[in-house]
Amino acid sequence: MQKHPLSEFKNNRLLVSPSVLACDFARLGAELEAAEEAEADMIHLDIMDGHFVPNITLGPPIVASMRKYTGLPFDVHLMLVHPDRYVEPFAKAGADHITFHIESECDPAAVIRQIHEQGCSAGITLKPGTPASALEPVLADVDMVLVMSVEPGFGGQKFQPEMLRKTSEIYAMLRRIGSRAHIEIDGGITHDNVRDAAAAGANVIVAGTAVFRASEGIRAAVAELHEAQKSLPKTDSES
Ligand code: DX5
Ligand code: ZN
Repeated sequence: MQKHPLSEFKNNRLLVSPSVLACDFARLGAELEAAEEAEADMIHLDIMDGHFVPNITLGPPIVASMRKYTGLPFDVHLMLVHPDRYVEPFAKAGADHITFHIESECDPAAVIRQIHEQGCSAGITLKPGTPASALEPVLADVDMVLVMSVEPGFGGQKFQPEMLRKTSEIYAMLRRIGSRAHIEIDGGITHDNVRDAAAAGANVIVAGTAVFRASEGIRAAVAELHEAQKSLPKTDSES
């Protein structure tokens, strides 16, 4: 199947990536169809190994089954101690984009190369307690930086507002080196804080609870998140 890495999208476009962690896992196919019907731009898949974070979610066979229900790009967030061991299985299962943690046990530059060799775009992410400066060695090589705005491991947590400053900092670091990498924000995003996240420079918006458990329905929830397009920094929305 043809891959659709993030490099196919411009970073002046606000993309909504609903996290299936908030889905009914026994109805995954229907939930994916509903997200596509609601005009989500991609699907965020949280992969946890029970070691890097204290929770376990999906493996490659489930991702491969999900692939049959939607053509949307799969935005895979690896929360694994050893991401290098799982890049290929997830890419083969249908990932289009793969993000891994700077805190994991691997050679980050080698993992980025591995991801690119699989035809996927590569992202790096960091926990709320890790400083932005930890990303400096790999910043020039990634297609996306994911700012975690909650402690990774569980959906439905409260957004940490201090992560807005970290988002602006990463935005400035990327522009300084001439990178047009996307910035994604993940954790506790709602209609109340999405505009602040976009204004800080995040153009890829992950939302689990706020989409799949929205009282107004998935379609209205995705449309409302897309409204934050107007809040993206001017320099980007004009270019
Ligand atoms: C947490 C995950 C998030 C989470 C977001 O480890 O990375 O993707 O599912 O869920 P909400 O939007 O409910 O915080
Ligand atoms: Zn995630």
